Amino acid sequence: MKIQIINGPNLNLLGRREPGIYGQSSFDEYLPQLQARFPEVEISYYQSNIEGELIDKMQEVGFSYDGIVLNAGAYTHTSVALQDCIRSLKCPTVEVHISNVHKREEFRHHSFISCACLGVICGFGLDSYRLAVEALVAAK
Ligand code: DQA
Repeated sequence: MKIQIINGPNLNLLGRREPGIYGQSSFDEYLPQLQARFPEVEISYYQSNIEGELIDKMQEVGFSYDGIVLNAGAYTHTSVALQDCIRSLKCPTVEVHISNVHKREEFRHHSFISCACLGVICGFGLDSYRLAVEALVAAK
């Protein structure tokens, strides 16, 4: 089974960016732990700050991989293009957020992508990614 994790804008700064909200660990530190928990799954990782590059990556893997775990960052709250992309793919996408967006500012309460995703996981810190991988494995 192949799963692609995709992180959007500013998530390259995990560990340094607002650690009170997003934690102390970088994604590069976390990824090997996640991969070790799912030895039977090939987990790849991609990050970009650019909306079109996120779409390019999703189109690249979305017809051959078994699932995508997407933290679209702030594009979650703005991007019809990401919603259209998710709808276009063959594989399911799980929307992930590190923070509980519903406990935060009102503009974070609406997602343009949830309606196109298999499901949404938010608020469990980096463990949100593990829960999303579990969900994709269970859905296979
Ligand atoms: C986030 C929540 C978004 O509202 C925010 O813009 C992010 C990160 C999260 O993982 O909690 O960049 O997606």
